[in-house]
Amino acid sequence: MADLQRFSYFARYIAERFPKGRVYDVAGGKGMLNVELSKLGFQVTTFDMRHKHLDVPYAQRVFTLAEPCEAELVVGMHPDGATRLIVEYAAQHRIPFAIVPCCSDNSMSYKQWMRHIQELAVSLGFPSVAEGELPMRGRARVLQGQ
Ligand SMILES: C[S@@+](CC[C@H](N)C(=O)[O-])C[C@H]1O[C@@H](n2cnc3c(N)ncnc32)[C@H](O)[C@@H]1O
Repeated sequence: MADLQRFSYFARYIAERFPKGRVYDVAGGKGMLNVELSKLGFQVTTFDMRHKHLDVPYAQRVFTLAEPCEAELVVGMHPDGATRLIVEYAAQHRIPFAIVPCCSDNSMSYKQWMRHIQELAVSLGFPSVAEGELPMRGRARVLQGQ
């Protein structure tokens, strides 16, 4: 979790696979991924509840399925309790998602959780859910649906 480079790794991963556009960075903490994606030409809004955050477009609130969709892509780095929500939101609005899952919201092991999220995405209508890996330690696997 402490490795700050994970944000630039994930931003680069996203830039190599998705066209530049508007991105929702859900459960984005202070906004580090926002900074890195913005450097690469994306327009990013970060959603989280942190009072102290970086000077980036930041919606300081809980992200829910009721959030109006003004994005072409929704992403999350270690989004904990928002992991499932990101996939559901993407499916609801028919936009792609890319996430780096971390902890499950239901005490599943990491392996089970990854499979569960992948199956959830397929059940919600994503024809393909690809898996990738960031060059970092810890929870580094990426799931992307489009
Ligand atoms: C493990 S932290 C990761 C933060 C950041 N993405 C990072 O990698 O450092 C998980 C974050 O998810 C946020 N979070 C969880 N559910 C959320 C929701 N529904 N809406 C917004 N933020 C949420 C928490 O506030 C917390 O900041």
